[in-house]
Amino acid sequence: MADLATTAPLIRATGLRKSFGPTEALRGIDLDIDRGEVVAVMGPSGSGKSTLIHCLAGVLTPDAGDVTINGTELGRLDADARARLRLKEIGFVFQFGQLLPDLTAVDNVALPLLMGGASRRAARAESYAWLERLGLGDQGDKFPGQMSGGQAQRVAIARALATRPTVLFADEPTGSLDSVAAESVLETMLDVVREARTTVLLITHDPRTAAYADREVIVRDGRLSGSALVGRS
Ligand SMILES: Nc1ncnc2c1ncn2[C@@H]1O[C@H](COP(=O)(O)OP(=O)(O)OP(=O)(O)O)[C@@H](O)[C@H]1O
Ligand SMILES: [Mg+2]
Repeated sequence: MADLATTAPLIRATGLRKSFGPTEALRGIDLDIDRGEVVAVMGPSGSGKSTLIHCLAGVLTPDAGDVTINGTELGRLDADARARLRLKEIGFVFQFGQLLPDLTAVDNVALPLLMGGASRRAARAESYAWLERLGLGDQGDKFPGQMSGGQAQRVAIARALATRPTVLFADEPTGSLDSVAAESVLETMLDVVREARTTVLLITHDPRTAAYADREVIVRDGRLSGSALVGRS
């Protein structure tokens, strides 16, 4: 018999709908994401991309429809269980302003590890290792205000990956950077996630960024309007 745990999609969304007052942000989305897949989410401004990944990550509750991650249906969990699942399975990288300004880079990365129960010493050692992997081995003791935008985004990515999430959601993680910095941050991020076989949903407006993904999905007016395999060599 086929092993359901390995053949089922890692994320399955069915019939997702979400409105904000009169605005129908999601109008019925069905989406399966396989384990280890890197998916680019594209589409016009206001089409529902952020709302979609917030629903997939359990940050927002959809008005209708279900999201299952790794066999767990989010709608069946209470708020505490959802928060625990997020801490254990999910990493999130936002567009800007996400590092805590009063903590050094290494302490920003260590924070979710400490929340997960690691000792301070272990959390710091592991955080330095993540910074190293993202090319920031010598920046750990700086505060966010002392780093470039690209360095700060790498710290945010290190923080999101440090808990070894099953899924990484990234909402335009390089949207605030110039194209050279964006490309280098993205390449580093994708090297690390491919090596760890992390599943990734990456929102981007940039077709060159999307070309790094295995697949593109396009959101228009709260619906998926297309899904294409990006021929990765
Ligand atoms: N908290 C909210 N309150 C009210 N309306 C919202 C809220 N969040 C999103 N919306 C509306 O829902 C629609 C979808 O928004 P969403 O943020 O998902 O778009 P997006 O595709 O991520 O856009 P962008 O590319 O500009 O980030 C938009 O019309 C937006 O104005
Ligand atoms: Mg958005």
